[in-house]
Amino acid sequence: MASSDFLNEPFTVNSKNVVYTDDEITSQYTYTTTRVEGTVVTPLEEKYTLKTQRRVPRLGVMIVGLGGNNGSTLVASVLANKHQLTWTTKEGVQTPNYFGSVTQASTIRLGTTAQGEGVYIPFHNLLPMVSPNELVLGGWDISSLNLADAMQRAQVLDFDLQRQLVPYLEKMSPLPSIYYPDFIAANQADRADNILSGSKQDHLDAVRQHIRDFKQSHKLDKVIVLWSANTERFSDIVDGVNDTSEHLLAAIQANEAEVSPSTIFAVASILEGCSYINGSPQNTFVPGVLDLAEEKKVFVGGDDFKSGQTKIKSVLVDFLVSAGIKPTSIVSYNHLGNNDGKNLSAPQQFRSKEISKSNVVDDMVASNRLLYKENEHPDHVVVIKYVPYVGDSKRALDEYTSKIFMNGTNTISMHNTCEDSLLASPLILDLVLICELAERITLKKEGVSDFEHLHSVLSLLSYMLKAPLVPRGTPVVNALFAQRECMINLFRACVGLAPENHMMLENKLFSEIDGRQ
Ligand SMILES: NC(=O)c1ccc[n+]([C@@H]2O[C@H](COP(=O)([O-])OP(=O)(O)OC[C@H]3O[C@@H](n4cnc5c(N)ncnc54)[C@H](O)[C@@H]3O)[C@@H](O)[C@H]2O)c1
Repeated sequence: MASSDFLNEPFTVNSKNVVYTDDEITSQYTYTTTRVEGTVVTPLEEKYTLKTQRRVPRLGVMIVGLGGNNGSTLVASVLANKHQLTWTTKEGVQTPNYFGSVTQASTIRLGTTAQGEGVYIPFHNLLPMVSPNELVLGGWDISSLNLADAMQRAQVLDFDLQRQLVPYLEKMSPLPSIYYPDFIAANQADRADNILSGSKQDHLDAVRQHIRDFKQSHKLDKVIVLWSANTERFSDIVDGVNDTSEHLLAAIQANEAEVSPSTIFAVASILEGCSYINGSPQNTFVPGVLDLAEEKKVFVGGDDFKSGQTKIKSVLVDFLVSAGIKPTSIVSYNHLGNNDGKNLSAPQQFRSKEISKSNVVDDMVASNRLLYKENEHPDHVVVIKYVPYVGDSKRALDEYTSKIFMNGTNTISMHNTCEDSLLASPLILDLVLICELAERITLKKEGVSDFEHLHSVLSLLSYMLKAPLVPRGTPVVNALFAQRECMINLFRACVGLAPENHMMLENKLFSEIDGRQ
């Protein structure tokens, strides 16, 4: 018997709790959780109705930092996929793909056949999703290079593919952007030749107008804005400046120095009703931005793409701690030679990255009080160096030292050649596609009168992000597989399917197995 089956066609759920109309899928769903109060543990069942709009919109994505390594690689790769370009390397003819995208290249177990075989479907077939080939891409950069030149500058894709993409990309140029030299490294100044003039209010107004124009000229139903520009330094949180939405809007009007370009982009996007995602580590989402997003009921997601070293860390530490092994020291060195590395070679920008990389093991450590006392943490150090020669092939070297049985020591050393932009670009797609899908989902708990969207701080995107932003006052989950299961189980609920519980009783009991032979 094959261990699994693959279903690549649309499916319908056969249940009285699921109703399909042309516009919507409505699911009556029982959410089961466990409430713990002291030593009393109560299983809870809560009834929800979930609605998913079925019509997939025409979606625009505006990238801040469009001409960077990630931006240019993403646009070039989507075009290569869309036009099915093939190219030749010394290994032979290459075809485009979406490997590294959880929505496009991973599968989920839908259920089992009568014979107990798992049936897998593409992640993107679980609910109607926008296809990456249909995205309309655009955005801003402080560097004026058209995207063909930007792709060549990035040195990420093979030459024979670049050659074929030039005619498509040379027509695309980034919109002028907001440049406040104080927020990114001084070594970026020489590429800043495509800059909006005027005050911070002028910049906010200009970016809002760009979004409206992009939407109108491409006849888009929706736009999502995503920051993939340089890492900025952290902004100070200043009372009266960025602590509330009202103060922040007034601070922009007053041309207040501590308002960063990324915060202006976030505000512009929210005011235009467009979800905003932050792919870099800085604290774009000052309290005033979060307030604004919550008031306007617009999604924000962040922070910092989780592409290489941190992704491995969130898997490895989860494995170690859940295996009862105690990591005591985690030391991570990186060196990279792309423009991101150059920017991060400045201390304040490095500090932003260091902060976003540092908390990634916290929830896993805190989850095991058998291994760690309260507030005890492993030593955790992150070093990043700029080495131009390695270009976009970031090297991540990690050493995990753990206490094992009878106080023995286990050391795992790892060398990971990350290929930065090839790992980050599919994450950008996932962030956008999942965010867009979340915009079409509403829920209503039994007894509540109105349907609501998920909270504006879209923690559902955590799988793709290094320092996941969660609604204020709620816990952060860093463990990678828990983050993935969260997305899958929520989407399963939208079609009335129980969460994947991995119990597989159908393959564990004599009565079940013998009964079908
Ligand atoms: N694997 C990864 O590549 C990865 C992982 C996590 C986070 N990130 C973050 O993603 C971001 C982009 O990475 P990259 O490798 O593409 O960097 P990059 O330096 O190649 O690209 C950034 C682009 O942003 C532009 N820029 C800077 N400030 C701008 C502004 N205010 N408005 C518009 N454009 C602006 C720059 O000119 C540049 O073209 C970085 O902050 C990086 O830390 C990348």
